[in-house]
Amino acid sequence: MRPVLYIARKLPDEALRVAENDCEVRLWDRESEPVPRNVLLDQLRDAEGLVSVLTERVDEELLKAAPRLKVVANMAVGYDNIDVEACRRHGVIVTNTPDVLTETTADLAWALLLATARRLPQSAELVRDGGWTTWSPLGLTGLDIYGKSLGILGMGRIGEAVARRAQGFGMTILYHNRRPRPEVEERLGARYLSLDALLREADILVILTPLTAETRHLIGRNELAKMKSTAILVNVSRGPVVDEEALVDALRQGVIWGAGLDVYEREPIGADHPLLQLDNAVCLPHIGSATVATRTAMARLAVQNAVNVLKGEKPLTPV
Ligand code: DGY
Repeated sequence: MRPVLYIARKLPDEALRVAENDCEVRLWDRESEPVPRNVLLDQLRDAEGLVSVLTERVDEELLKAAPRLKVVANMAVGYDNIDVEACRRHGVIVTNTPDVLTETTADLAWALLLATARRLPQSAELVRDGGWTTWSPLGLTGLDIYGKSLGILGMGRIGEAVARRAQGFGMTILYHNRRPRPEVEERLGARYLSLDALLREADILVILTPLTAETRHLIGRNELAKMKSTAILVNVSRGPVVDEEALVDALRQGVIWGAGLDVYEREPIGADHPLLQLDNAVCLPHIGSATVATRTAMARLAVQNAVNVLKGEKPLTPV
């Protein structure tokens, strides 16, 4: 009998085909709607593999409901939705999808950075609303990027890809990381700073650190107060790394100049979220890796990881 692989979101056909010979694939067949928790737990009763996305909370309760489970293959590089320690206790292997999304996410970080600094959403809206009446000397003026300092908080693969792009903008590259990375300093001329110094010196701070117990609310009121009043904060990692209430206040009071956000403390945010009342915040719906090619590659890799484990082979990208 082939092992049951439960896939918790409708994925591209070519990703599903990766499992068709080796597994009995069961699928939550909707793309824009997460599987309800009770359905997920029910489906996992006899499943040996789970392909999850970031809306699935993999915790003790789920693991107890899935006694045959051998692998949780997350279709994301981040895996803060998974209690990895609990999985280890239950002998369940966890995998993620690094590398395939690095460049795409770095592109989005830059798109968001530029959109925020040059006020692109407001500008496009003005034209669309018929409000463009004349060229005006100081109308919709933003901030320069060229020649400024870019501060990367979390110098992993994506941080490096973001920093590489900054070279074309003649920027000074600063970073803070759990450990300094001399090889990146050599490759990109980046300079390691303490978090405190990074906050004080960066014109643009791009947050790329994973969400862990240590990084939750790493950027709060005190940290924002250390930043320049002309600084821009860009977050493309996980919302809870930033204390959102403190960020809203900082943007309202001009403690910092602007923010470009792809991620939030609770997703999705509703139309009444305070960030959406602000003219100096550009808000996107968690689309860092959202290109057809990259999402397809992520889906294929996640399914391949699950299939490998179910066939008794090594997963390609274990956590
Ligand atoms: C990730 O991979 O962690 C992204 O946030 C999901 O696209």
